Parts: sequence; structure tokens; C-alpha cells
Amino acid sequence: MSEEKEVTKRPIPIDKEVSWDKTQTIMSKTDLYGTIEYANEVFVDVCGYEDYELMAQPHNIIRHPDMPKIVFKVLWENIQKGNQFHGIVKNLAKSGRYYWVITNFEYSRDENGNIVNYIARRKAVPQDVITKHIEPLYKKLLQIEQVSGIGASEKYLIGFLEEQGLSYVDLITKLMVENEKEQQLQRAPQEVVPVEIEETESRGFFSRFFGR
Ligand SMILES: Cc1cc2nc3c(=O)[nH]c(=O)nc-3n(C[C@H](O)[C@H](O)[C@H](O)COP(=O)(O)O)c2cc1C
Repeated sequence: MSEEKEVTKRPIPIDKEVSWDKTQTIMSKTDLYGTIEYANEVFVDVCGYEDYELMAQPHNIIRHPDMPKIVFKVLWENIQKGNQFHGIVKNLAKSGRYYWVITNFEYSRDENGNIVNYIARRKAVPQDVITKHIEPLYKKLLQIEQVSGIGASEKYLIGFLEEQGLSYVDLITKLMVENEKEQQLQRAPQEVVPVEIEETESRGFFSRFFGR
């Protein structure tokens, strides 16, 4: 991650969302440093860069300044270990507009089991999850970072998660599963069976959500 090149010219963020087909899956493949090796058409459409502008660039080309650094620290700590990881990220398109995504990571490995590439698939995030939960948390983390640095935002995030007995991935899973249940409840209240959020359910949820 630290070996990524910085893009020199960044778009100026504007407080407008990219309008995109939220049923689609954005996909990219990187090397071990997050250098983009492949981006699918949806990625190109949504972020607004041509594929020749994305290839060989660091993935932080679409990093949004509203994103707290600590979230990427957690992301890298997990993916470098090959963990099952889901993160929610606000991205910056070339136009300066933003788009929120939830990411699923896969790993391609060599014959010795070492990770050689990261493959990220992303889908749109339900608006309620962003507005009610993620945006307030990320705003707080960013404020803490701006005043006292990433060490302080990390401590805050650890405390916030400890209070709920969750890891970052558990939190994301819980928010997504709860949101799905609320949606079901609104559609067909009589059919909803309350269930505990367990590891098996989170795996089930994300394999359904990403269709894999
Ligand atoms: C496969 C893969 C996909 C990534 N997707 C994104 C993304 O969509 N948005 C983003 O800001 N960072 C993404 N990152 C993380 C970036 O590499 C980078 O760590 C992040 O933008 C923060 O920039 P920095 O590490 O220079 O601080 C991804 C990394 C990998 C390995």
C-alpha cells in the first residue's frame, strides 16, 4: 500500500453522487501493492476514467478525501492475510462526484498458496446503511484523524467496535443483514423470521449479495 504512487492531479470533489446502474458489479484486479491490472467496463463507466488511464495506476486514484485512513489500514491488514473482508468505501470519480460501494475481495494464489493478485468486486450500498451508520462513523473518524492522527482514529474505532463486540467486518455484515431484513419487513412483514446474525449467515449473505 505504501509503495503506491500518488496520482498528481486529483479531481476536486463535488457533493453529487455519480448516477449509475446500481444492479451492476464493479470489478478490478490489482497486484500486491494495489496497482490496477484490470478494470471491468462497469468500473470504467462509474469512475469516469478510461481504462488506459486506470491501468498501472495505484488504486488510490479513486480515493475520496472523506474516507478516513484507518478504514484502509483495516482493509490492508485483512487482505494481506487473505481474510474474508468486506469494506464500505466512498470513491471519487473523475468528474469529482462520489459513489459508495461495498467490496468483496478474492485472492489469486500461486502454487505455494501465496497471494499474487487481489480481485475486488463491488456493489452499491443501501442508502440507509450509508446515511444512518457509515457516514456518521466515517465523519467522526476523519475528524479525529485531522486533529490527532491515525493512531487516535484507530483507538476510537477499536473502542467503538469493542463496545458492540464486533470486528469491522462483523459491523458491516450486521448493517447489511439488518438492512435486508428491514426491506423484507416492509415488503412482506408476515414472512420474516427473526434470526441471530451468525458467521454462517454473514457468509451466506455475501455469497448471495455478490452472486458467488
Ligand atoms: C483490489 C483492491 C481494490 C481497492 N479498491 C479501492 C477502492 O475502490 N477505493 C479506494 O479508495 N481504495 C481502494 N483500494 C485501496 C487503495 O489501494 C488505497 O490503499 C486507498 O485508496 C488509500 O490510499 P493510500 O493507501 O494511498 O492512503 C483497493 C485496494 C485493493 C488491493
